[in-house]
Amino acid sequence: GAPIDVDLGGLEPGGKVVVRWRGLPVVIFSRPDAALEKLKDPALLSELADPDSEVLQQPRYARNWHRSIDPAYAVLVGVCTHLGGIPLYYPTPSDAEPTADWPGGFFCPCHGSKFDLAGRVYKGVPAPYNLPTPPYRMISDRILRIG
Ligand code: FES
Repeated sequence: GAPIDVDLGGLEPGGKVVVRWRGLPVVIFSRPDAALEKLKDPALLSELADPDSEVLQQPRYARNWHRSIDPAYAVLVGVCTHLGGIPLYYPTPSDAEPTADWPGGFFCPCHGSKFDLAGRVYKGVPAPYNLPTPPYRMISDRILRIG
């Protein structure tokens, strides 16, 4: 399929956009500094199965703590690595799921898998891997090209 261009200029701090790429939802969201700080919190890291994306092959630019090219923007395939459910995005604690001590991330309602704001999977949930990162690059200051 053709590459998809996404204009990040329209994304508010903390905002999210979902585009379709090769039939898959790709979730792009901006991470304010506070969200980035949480990604480095040792308490969170101890709960993650693969914090540096070493298990499943990922693009080189995703094998780091923020799993992206620019820490300020996450770019993830929004399909659960368990059985393909659609994880819901909860950037902050929510009345719905999961819980009040939630540091932000994705929750898959199918079987309860949890991922953080870098798409990193928690230990002890059915999903075996972090959310995949699609191939992408920045083609200008604000245009991100997927594929
Ligand atoms: Fe997401 Fe099973 S499909 S937890």
